[in-house]
Amino acid sequence: MAYKIAVIPGDGTGPEVVDEGLKVLKAVSKKENFQLDFAFYDLGGERYLRTGETLPDSVLEELKKVPAIFLGAIGHPQVRPGILEQGILLRLRFSLDQYINLRPVKLYPGVEGPLKDKGPEHINFVIIRENTEGLYTGAGGFLKKGTPDEVAIQESINTRKGVERCLRYAFAFCLQRNKACKLTLAAKTNVLNYASDLWARTFNEVAKDYPQVKIDYTHVDALCMWMVKNPEWFDVIVTDNLFGDIITDLGAMIQGGLGIAAGGNINPGPGGVSMFEPMGGSAPKYAGKNMINPLAAIAACQMMLDYLGEKKAAQRIENAMIRVLGRHVKSLAAGEMGYTTKEVGDLVVEYL
Ligand code: IPM
Ligand code: MN
Repeated sequence: MAYKIAVIPGDGTGPEVVDEGLKVLKAVSKKENFQLDFAFYDLGGERYLRTGETLPDSVLEELKKVPAIFLGAIGHPQVRPGILEQGILLRLRFSLDQYINLRPVKLYPGVEGPLKDKGPEHINFVIIRENTEGLYTGAGGFLKKGTPDEVAIQESINTRKGVERCLRYAFAFCLQRNKACKLTLAAKTNVLNYASDLWARTFNEVAKDYPQVKIDYTHVDALCMWMVKNPEWFDVIVTDNLFGDIITDLGAMIQGGLGIAAGGNINPGPGGVSMFEPMGGSAPKYAGKNMINPLAAIAACQMMLDYLGEKKAAQRIENAMIRVLGRHVKSLAAGEMGYTTKEVGDLVVEYL
């Protein structure tokens, strides 16, 4: 098999961690006998500052032709917040209809998480975040902006189709994962009479098609509490875009931090283009210092190969990461790993 992969190294430490991901991808594809052809795209803050472009239409058209995109990080200290996030990241998610944001939360042995008395046996669940609707659509507006009578409206768009396809993905994922087979919906039915009502009704309807999956509901505020107090309760959690954004950061912390957290922006449809990224930002203060942890980017590569169907290669990467975490890397934080960025990449390759 040969796969064409679009690579967007991006800003800050993005290019450094992407290099380590590519190193691991090249090594594992050789061992498992498949081919990866990389096409590089220069998108991010530097290009924006140089040309004023975020994501040119011509680049978007090219990206529509690959099965997967590997993204480093987007964000530049000299660019006003929002321009790159909305112009590149959200535009990619929306235009490529990547309606699932998949975020495994897994504490690996040897990683010190912040939760006392919680180990790898307690923290192993997946968050499925709706990735194209909700409060992220940009719907709304100002009235009388800048005056004392100003009104700001930010609308949460939840379509039956959008909610249902996300929930169906979550049920099917939960079944296939075959762990506790429990799917938790996180919403706010006690307050959001319309949006959460649609989610809850659709959840209960779709559940009828998946009798093997145990269904569970929690208000999202309470979920934040339980994720810290009893993370072992969760198997798969499904939620809307903004709630998902918030709880996935909490998830990243309880699995040890941004040094290890990765996510996939998935379009599960036929011919869909999916995008995989480490969750950490561009961390400009560490850029070019060979200090940042590349494991999150490497975990993103693992997710990408799993998604492409190269399950054995994905498993090899995870096993190698587990060895590196168990035997070598002391802390996941930049500069405290006991190894450089490149050395961590080399160690993963060694254990493949
Ligand atoms: C994430 C990020 C993005 C989001 C930002 C950078 C727009 O926080 O992927 O979770 O809010 O979705
Ligand atoms: Mn986020």
